[in-house]
Amino acid sequence: MNHLIAPSILAADFANLQRDIELINKSDADWIHVDIMDGMFVPNISFGFPVVNAVNKYATKPLDVHLMIVDPDRYLNNFKEAGASGMTVHYEACPNLHRTVQHIKELGCRACVALNPHTPVAVLEDIILDLDMVLIMSVNPGFGGQKFIENTYKKLKDIKALARRYNPELYIEVDGGVDMSNADKLLDAGANVLVAGNSVFSAPDPLVAITNLKKSGSGSRS
Ligand code: DX5
Ligand code: ZN
Repeated sequence: MNHLIAPSILAADFANLQRDIELINKSDADWIHVDIMDGMFVPNISFGFPVVNAVNKYATKPLDVHLMIVDPDRYLNNFKEAGASGMTVHYEACPNLHRTVQHIKELGCRACVALNPHTPVAVLEDIILDLDMVLIMSVNPGFGGQKFIENTYKKLKDIKALARRYNPELYIEVDGGVDMSNADKLLDAGANVLVAGNSVFSAPDPLVAITNLKKSGSGSRS
């Protein structure tokens, strides 16, 4: 499968959000990654439903909503209404993960589970068949612009091996510190969705940065 690019609007200019959404609309990006932080599961607070609604009003690409919040079940319906096409919940935040995943699917959304850097992929063995996507965090969640954690490659290989066995169609997303210095290696290790915040929006030309990420990977090179 050709890999997908999901720019994270956490790194966008919130005073010019419409402009930055329209930039993503006309780019080679596939999804728009929307980071929700509650100040509890992670030490930071990002934004809530009114902002997601506003993004959805201008976005022409699917919203990939990453919920870094405790007890996300409380808000799944709201995020669906706000325009989510896929929803990611954290393994570490969901004691009844199977129920949460079924709820996301009943809402007609792509169901994804994220793993923090310290959580081994083996914990997903008995639910991977029910998932549309797994998100491997390559930084500790909570902030953009952090340093990429090298152990991510090993985890991508591990989840790819599980996916081959149980769910070959699984999307494998990687999030945190993704840029042109590691994109090829991440794709080789098994990722097929790259999230990028800082490396896109701090680039001299974000459109070019997105195109370069889209062209990454040995399969796509001419
Ligand atoms: C981190 C978020 C990421 C973040 C990535 O908690 O989940 O999506 O926006 O930002 P960069 O690409 O700057 O590391
Ligand atoms: Zn994210």
